[in-house]
Amino acid sequence: MIKILLLNGSPKGVRSDTLRLSMAFAEGMFQTADCELEVIHVNEKHIEYCTGCFRCKHNGGVCMLQDDMAEILQKMLETDVLIFSFPLYSYAMPAAMKNLVDRTMPLSSWNMVRNDEGKYGHNMQFDVSKLHYVMICGCGFPNSKHNFEGAVRSFELKYPERRTIITVPESPMMNIPPARQFVAPRLAEMKAAGAEYAKTFTLSEQTLKTVCSPMIPEEIYAQFANSLR
Ligand SMILES: Cc1cc2nc3c(=O)[nH]c(=O)nc-3n(C[C@H](O)[C@H](O)[C@H](O)COP(=O)(O)O)c2cc1C
Repeated sequence: MIKILLLNGSPKGVRSDTLRLSMAFAEGMFQTADCELEVIHVNEKHIEYCTGCFRCKHNGGVCMLQDDMAEILQKMLETDVLIFSFPLYSYAMPAAMKNLVDRTMPLSSWNMVRNDEGKYGHNMQFDVSKLHYVMICGCGFPNSKHNFEGAVRSFELKYPERRTIITVPESPMMNIPPARQFVAPRLAEMKAAGAEYAKTFTLSEQTLKTVCSPMIPEEIYAQFANSLR
């Protein structure tokens, strides 16, 4: 049984463009493996900002703030696949999602260690060894270059292992009815990617190339988007 916890970081909740892509991915996982899915709409949760007190690093991982985060951390520890589904906001994660990531601070200990590449990180104080991290990020601009790099790099640094990143440009098309003919193939590709992922917890270069490509030529998308004013 693969437990999937999908964190929807779009303030649009169930109407999120990115969530449509992520749900297709999860659906694909169900096709290949015995799965269980829970979706958390991050913006509906009461999650305070991290105060930076670091007490969680000295008391065995207990946060001083009393809100919904304790339950979310517990769910994360019981999960096999954690999907971070969010739209690109100002070349980064939306604030509520970033806040949630900051609040995962209790999972790691005070002890900082240097890896072979010279990168420092904190040791974990809970067992997250079975956790796999998937980032699925949609965006409004028609291409990926000069757009997703910041979000991708911070996810890579935060989750150096067991991590998969899918970035999809032109994602507002997901909820534009006339674009259905271009959206349906991408949803099918996301589903196929999910089915592939459930077997090995990885995606081939070819699959990543397919799901991360624009759905329609960028000039046509930009022209269409500009005509919606
Ligand atoms: C505050 C804000 C910032 C945004 N920043 C970017 C951006 O940096 N690059 C981009 O391509 N799209 C950007 N967008 C567009 C969204 O990523 C796009 O509309 C996306 O499809 C929304 O996905 P959702 O429905 O899952 O929330 C931004 C939208 C908002 C509201």
